[in-house]
Amino acid sequence: MSMVMLMMMMIFWGRSTAFVATTSQRCKAVRRFPSASSNVNSWSARFSSSGMEDMTGWTIKKTIQESTKWLEQGKVPEPDLSVQHLLAASLQLSWESGFRDVLQKNRAGVILTPDQAQDYGRKLERRLQQEPLQYILGQWDFLDYTISIRSPLLCPRPETEELVMKVIEETTESPIHILDVGCGTGVIGLALAEKMPDSSVEAIDIDPVAIATSLENAKRILGPSQMSCYSAKLCSAQDFDPDHSFDIVVSNPPYIPRADMETLTEDVVRYENEGALCGGEEGMDVIRVIVEKLPSWCNAGAVCWMEVDPTHPELIAKWIADTPSLNVEFDSTHKDMYGKDRFVKLRLL
Ligand SMILES: C[S@@+](CC[C@H](N)C(=O)[O-])C[C@H]1O[C@@H](n2cnc3c(N)ncnc32)[C@H](O)[C@@H]1O
Repeated sequence: MSMVMLMMMMIFWGRSTAFVATTSQRCKAVRRFPSASSNVNSWSARFSSSGMEDMTGWTIKKTIQESTKWLEQGKVPEPDLSVQHLLAASLQLSWESGFRDVLQKNRAGVILTPDQAQDYGRKLERRLQQEPLQYILGQWDFLDYTISIRSPLLCPRPETEELVMKVIEETTESPIHILDVGCGTGVIGLALAEKMPDSSVEAIDIDPVAIATSLENAKRILGPSQMSCYSAKLCSAQDFDPDHSFDIVVSNPPYIPRADMETLTEDVVRYENEGALCGGEEGMDVIRVIVEKLPSWCNAGAVCWMEVDPTHPELIAKWIADTPSLNVEFDSTHKDMYGKDRFVKLRLL
């Protein structure tokens, strides 16, 4: 087994499926399962109306025990991990290990100050409303980076980490020009820019929050010395008309077929942007635009990597085979860690 495979297995071990159950390497066991929303709403409404209990003066041990119980009763996914993360943030423990440190025996008797109790109470209320941990904390991990994240941007999924690793594994030339279509927080383009220092990355998105956040993340991930190799522009795939050619187009476009939107968990539906998730009837609206635009974005031989719905590789392959005027060939389908056909690689003829 290659080192890369071994690393990927270590990174992705124990993770769950895109869009219906998300997590990140920060907590390998974190999962979001579909929740019983009627229970959730009635319970959290009752809780909020009676007000969050003042936890000032409580020990860490009691705070963990009681608030885990509240989240369980509120049917909030991953109650233990939620409590650990949120409490660590309120206690201002380090991002790297705070959520584990909070459980240390020697902390059990430490008393919450009024400020800590208030801050933790506010965070807990948000979690009781099913808000994703990523948004409450304002940051999360993607591969070996800590990124800023805010609603309604897509919380990066572990499958997208796989996409980045695949692009890196299969890229042999350098320097290369990369286009990231639908950058969101910027994770794909930024990870590629950082891991392939000879590359330059241009990112586009239709959401101004995405552009601002990806530039903020560029500062975090690339730092001043590498910042110049990343740019992000508010522009749709339809309207993007670059003045130079790209060698690689990479995208995790909105790809969920409309009928499948109903299967998403409440936290995804309530907090993440539908425009970042739903790709129209078949889930292929933005995918089709990207494929059709490839000849105007790239030189012959350029490749396009996309994360897609498992129903898409077959549809894309057939569409390309039936439409020679696209000037694109279908290179390959790649499975994600759950064995689903999740990634496609295309090549411009
Ligand atoms: C599934 S999210 C991916 C975000 C990020 N790349 C990631 O993997 O976490 C899709 C992104 O595409 C953007 N988007 C949707 N339609 C688009 C379009 N027509 N052109 C460019 N970006 C688009 C959305 O705003 C959203 O940020």
